[in-house]
Amino acid sequence: MSSSAPLTRDDFVRLDNEDGMGQFRARFDLPPNEIYLDGNSLGAMPAHVPARIDTVMRKEWAHGLIRSWNDADWYPAPQRTGGKIARLIGAQAHEVIVADSTSINLFKVLVAATRMQPSRKVILAERGNFPTDVYIADGVAELTGCELRCVEPDAVLDALDESVSILSLTHVNFKSGRRYDMAAITARAHEVGALVVWDLCHSAGAMPIELNGANADFAVGCGYKYLNGGPGAPAFVFVAERHIAQVRQPLTGWHGHAKPFDFSHDYAPHATIDRMLVGTAPQLGVLALEAALEVFEDVDMQALRTKSVALCDLFIQLCDQELQGLGIELRTPRDAEQRGSQVSLAHADAYPVMQALIARGIVGDFRAPDILRFGFTPLYTRYQDVWECVAALREILERKEWDRPEFLARKSVT
Ligand SMILES: Cc1ncc(COP(=O)(O)O)c(C=O)c1O
Repeated sequence: MSSSAPLTRDDFVRLDNEDGMGQFRARFDLPPNEIYLDGNSLGAMPAHVPARIDTVMRKEWAHGLIRSWNDADWYPAPQRTGGKIARLIGAQAHEVIVADSTSINLFKVLVAATRMQPSRKVILAERGNFPTDVYIADGVAELTGCELRCVEPDAVLDALDESVSILSLTHVNFKSGRRYDMAAITARAHEVGALVVWDLCHSAGAMPIELNGANADFAVGCGYKYLNGGPGAPAFVFVAERHIAQVRQPLTGWHGHAKPFDFSHDYAPHATIDRMLVGTAPQLGVLALEAALEVFEDVDMQALRTKSVALCDLFIQLCDQELQGLGIELRTPRDAEQRGSQVSLAHADAYPVMQALIARGIVGDFRAPDILRFGFTPLYTRYQDVWECVAALREILERKEWDRPEFLARKSVT
């Protein structure tokens, strides 16, 4: 399509017809006649997961009972599932394990990293990060006698000096969708002797990531967004192979012990990534996440990224074309190199506007104070979804369709 000619619905229909990734949508159970642009908050359900969980519950739990930890191979599921995630984030299978939540894994790696740098006293982080990252870093700073120093994203590189123990960043910002250059920032942090913790919540499963290519130290990320593990799915943690033997994480639960079933009095950490475990895994959640990851098995992550970039570029282009003068402002970088797989638009009445959109069966989300957030998940988002979303947004704004009491009343989860 020519860049000067206005985009039309036909362009999007044609793109879907030519889309080599279009086949993957059938792997998900999505509500018919709806458009789902919130996979960056809760991923869609892969259609085969209920059958797996049904077997887990009716056969392995109900009849296998306690034997299933061995007989159904429940016990090594956190390692197995970590291994599947490793492929998506450029890590080795033995560097990743599934455990706990992102918040808890952040706590574990931040304390562990601080302990590796006892003479340094600054945890450097970004303003505007997802709150849990800042809250946990603040708690860790207090506990370890460090100072938490938060700077604007553009000031991170300049703020790196020899006092910094750990740099803690989120690869793709939850609100703006802006993405850091992981390799360049990690390299600069290492030059001043700092360790880097990357939060991959908004990038794992959404694009190829090269943790080892970037020489990353630690990473965490959640299972319920682009990895489609289900609501509250367990998270993952990555520790670079070169650090595993030194890592002393603070939550010394029995599953991180070298020999949990010796039930010995003294704690001795496991020699492997298992030392990042704490207690018994939320097994149903781990097994659902493990099953969900099968949808990625034959997916070319470069092709996935190509489609993600195309969806976001077209969405931005269409917003420029259709939403002029309607109070919308783009808050995500136009340059795909600086972006994740979401586009954020600001509008003074973003909350009711999103509610009006959801009432039309187009689901994105709202982030305070004024952000309309749209996540593009290339495995199941269609090009036509982009067209329909912007067309609906235009009508809602032009007709002030959002200005109704039912859209203005705030729900507890936005
Ligand atoms: C960057 C980031 N970190 C962490 C989390 C969530 O952490 P938890 O799963 O512990 O609630 C989110 C959730 O949206 C997030 O965006």
